[in-house]
Amino acid sequence: MPEARTTAARRAMPEALPHGDIAELLPGIHFVTGSIRMTAPLPTRFSRNMTILRQDGALVLINSVRLDEPGLRALDALGEVKHVLRMAGFHGSDDPFYKDRYGATIWSVDAPYVPGFDAGAPPYFTADEILTETTELPIQGARLIPFHSARTAEAMLFLDRDGGILVSGDCLQNWARPDRFFSLPARLMMRAMGFIRPYNVGPGWLKIAKPDPAEIKALLDLDFEHVLPAHGALVIGNAKALYTPRIAAL
Ligand SMILES: [Fe+2]
Repeated sequence: MPEARTTAARRAMPEALPHGDIAELLPGIHFVTGSIRMTAPLPTRFSRNMTILRQDGALVLINSVRLDEPGLRALDALGEVKHVLRMAGFHGSDDPFYKDRYGATIWSVDAPYVPGFDAGAPPYFTADEILTETTELPIQGARLIPFHSARTAEAMLFLDRDGGILVSGDCLQNWARPDRFFSLPARLMMRAMGFIRPYNVGPGWLKIAKPDPAEIKALLDLDFEHVLPAHGALVIGNAKALYTPRIAAL
């Protein structure tokens, strides 16, 4: 195996991109919407979200998004960043930033950290811990639900509280409309590609990761009231019923 495949090559960390304010949505659960830049097939920018869990004064970041300095001060006011969870193999570009700044433990699904969607590219980072369904998570009352069939690893985080909460990477999305973080090319392209639809299953993820629909349909065996997606608006209340038509149609 070439050296580049076994040793994560350092690369410049992506800069902080525009984001909103951190908001508390349930006790101990905060959420912030930021953005991501893509270069292919067109230069675009669109939104993505980070969930922040606070327990015993420590913070767990899920689907990390680098914040600017005022944003980091607001984050620091909530507690100390101890852990970062990467739920989607297509995400994680800001995990090295949080490792570097806070010495956080990085927990990732079993996917290499590579730029873009090229699983064969040299990785730029290595996680501290690989997440599986038997991993003892650094979150009380949480369970990991991996999608074993996905070609690029992806998992859902289930929080057993408030009627059940699913924190999603690329699987469950909720862009009813483009938000203020979408560039014009992203507005046009992502609508055409089927991303702009409420209570959606990520079309790009379906296409590239090719998960077995049965694994996604199995989510409906869970009871959950809320979905905190990496893409799109929060779904607070009645989430299972709202997602059921799209999931059942897979
Ligand atoms: Fe994504």
